[in-house]
Amino acid sequence: MAESTDGVLRIAVIVGSVREGRFGPVVADWITGHIAQREDMKADLIDLVKTPLPTVFPAFGQAPSGEVVAQLAAVSPRLDRADAFVIVTPEYNHSFPAALKNALDWHNEQWQAKPVGFVSYGGLSGGLRAVEQLRVVLAELHAVTIRNTVSFHNAAQVFDADRKPSDPGCDGAAKALLDQLSWWGRSLREAKRVRPYAV
Ligand SMILES: Cc1cc2nc3c(=O)[nH]c(=O)nc-3n(C[C@H](O)[C@H](O)[C@H](O)COP(=O)(O)O)c2cc1C
Repeated sequence: MAESTDGVLRIAVIVGSVREGRFGPVVADWITGHIAQREDMKADLIDLVKTPLPTVFPAFGQAPSGEVVAQLAAVSPRLDRADAFVIVTPEYNHSFPAALKNALDWHNEQWQAKPVGFVSYGGLSGGLRAVEQLRVVLAELHAVTIRNTVSFHNAAQVFDADRKPSDPGCDGAAKALLDQLSWWGRSLREAKRVRPYAV
């Protein structure tokens, strides 16, 4: 598993929505901006619209071939390099988007023993049910999910014309989430240097 060589944590920010006219990039840009202000982490924004993955998988034991190889090459090494993840997810029908599940399913060791924080949004639910479902899936993938989340109820009304949440309390919530992500990211990175993760 690739590891960063400097002290800075590499955070892959994954944009889970792929809908035309989606709101997701507004939320993703906001949390990426918070990461950019910190000295302890740097972000790599992975947008599943720009780097789509196929929904047809090879047979068990078969390596991907053809066009799939290039599609995976645009995503997998970046997940591999990441020390930690922020998943930006909307809620669709009480769950998270299919494209996000697809990206999770295409990978395995890339998630192992790494922390995952969530920034969610949606209608009334603020994406919280999507996050709870993601926690179950990520546990199966040996990832560690961060307790604190940032969630936006009726997100389109919460962000102003500057693409920032009008409630300044959201910045504090982002800081709390990223502080916890940093703690887990550093702790797990150090632990893996001492002893490989036992899968
Ligand atoms: C297919 C679909 C299903 C949705 N289901 C829910 C839902 O179960 N709960 C909720 O709070 N919002 C739901 N919404 C509202 C979305 O979470 C909200 O519109 C959000 O902005 C969608 O993210 P996006 O714009 O990045 O695609 C749904 C939207 C769509 C398109």
